Amino acid sequence: MITFVVQPSDGLNGTVRVPGDKSMSHRSIMLGALAEGVTQVKGFLNAEDAMSTLKAFRAMGVEISDPVDGNVTIHGVGKQGLKAPNAPLYLGNSGTSMRLLSGLLAGQNFDCILTGDESLSSRPMRRVTEPLALMGATIETQANGSAPLKITGSKRLKGIDYVLPMASAQVKSCLLLAGMYASGETKVTEPAPTRDHTERMLNGFGYPVQRSGRQATINSNGQLTASNIDVPSDISSAAFFLVGASIAKNSEVTLQHVGMNPTRTGVIDILKLMGASIEILNPREVGGEPVADLRVTSSELKGIVIPEALVPLAIDEFPVLFIAAACASGQTVLTGAEELRVKECDRIQVMAEGLQTLNVDATVTEDGMIINGGQMSGGEVQSHDDHRIAMAFSMAGLRASSAITVQNCANVNTSFPEFCDLATSLGLQLTSTEA
Ligand code: S3P
Repeated sequence: MITFVVQPSDGLNGTVRVPGDKSMSHRSIMLGALAEGVTQVKGFLNAEDAMSTLKAFRAMGVEISDPVDGNVTIHGVGKQGLKAPNAPLYLGNSGTSMRLLSGLLAGQNFDCILTGDESLSSRPMRRVTEPLALMGATIETQANGSAPLKITGSKRLKGIDYVLPMASAQVKSCLLLAGMYASGETKVTEPAPTRDHTERMLNGFGYPVQRSGRQATINSNGQLTASNIDVPSDISSAAFFLVGASIAKNSEVTLQHVGMNPTRTGVIDILKLMGASIEILNPREVGGEPVADLRVTSSELKGIVIPEALVPLAIDEFPVLFIAAACASGQTVLTGAEELRVKECDRIQVMAEGLQTLNVDATVTEDGMIINGGQMSGGEVQSHDDHRIAMAFSMAGLRASSAITVQNCANVNTSFPEFCDLATSLGLQLTSTEA
């Protein structure tokens, strides 16, 4: 049990580089493992979620080095080279591991079982098992459609033309990975753009994926050739400091080498609409992904109606964006964000409850929240074992009238193990205690 206590502090100041992008770290292991040859990854996120993927591939016979300063070496086994694991693959808290692996493993010639922790075992998996069944896969779920997933291998998959019922990069990626093993073409159309790291990285490994508007198409004719991957800093981790430095007086923070893929930058757009001062410095391209340094200074935020088109582009950043809204003058309205209810916890309900504990006027709606900004008080809030809820409420401590205690923060290690060190180095008065 890890508890964070955050005292009000003067502001955040300094320059930091947050750890590597989680989505890209997962994909670098998956594609590196299936490539012919040796892939070197730089900037890999050494955190529990990405390590769940890494360990799963080791269990399937792939030689992968331990991450050292973000460097990982993967000895690819080729597209057909994975071996049956001799135990269920335990994927911890990681939805990305489970959903992407379900597609990849549906096309192998061995059986396997995917399991996870309590949170992952309660998340919806039919969104992947149903389209995979249309492709000819056999995957058993629990009666309510959740994990463990029991995948029966040696099925002949066939391509499908599938329109995603929700904007989900995990489901899109799952089907594209299954499509690498399916006869004919697999076409996936998304209702709104979502992160496109799978498509970009497949192309980077020499595996053709065609994009036409909202549709991505893949077939089984490609091969992956080992490639060097440079993973930029995770904008989803940078987001805590983008908000923290915006809401705290006397702040100036520079975040180095942040991934600026346009399918991920919704948080910057939303904060700028709220009046945040964020400068994009030294934009450049690294390994096929846009990267920049971000300088953020304190500002007076104002409430806005968040454009629905930005929701999928900022989907992981809403916990901390709710904190920004609580510190803004006026009303912020979020709609079209029902997907937040099926993340590591129900992020609409849990954030609203925490905000209400801190005397913020927050009203839950079916698909979002209405927040009227004002003075936050201190208090004790629950993270519900959700890493991003824990880090979001830590930032709230910058503006609360007294200390905020956040319970159950151990899962910060799933995405951002250096959070406490980096946050305190910037001036956040945070103490972490383990009981
Ligand atoms: C991810 C996609 C998103 C996101 C998750 C990572 C990915 O999930 O919330 O943290 O790496 O593809 P959904 O596909 O469920 O929106």
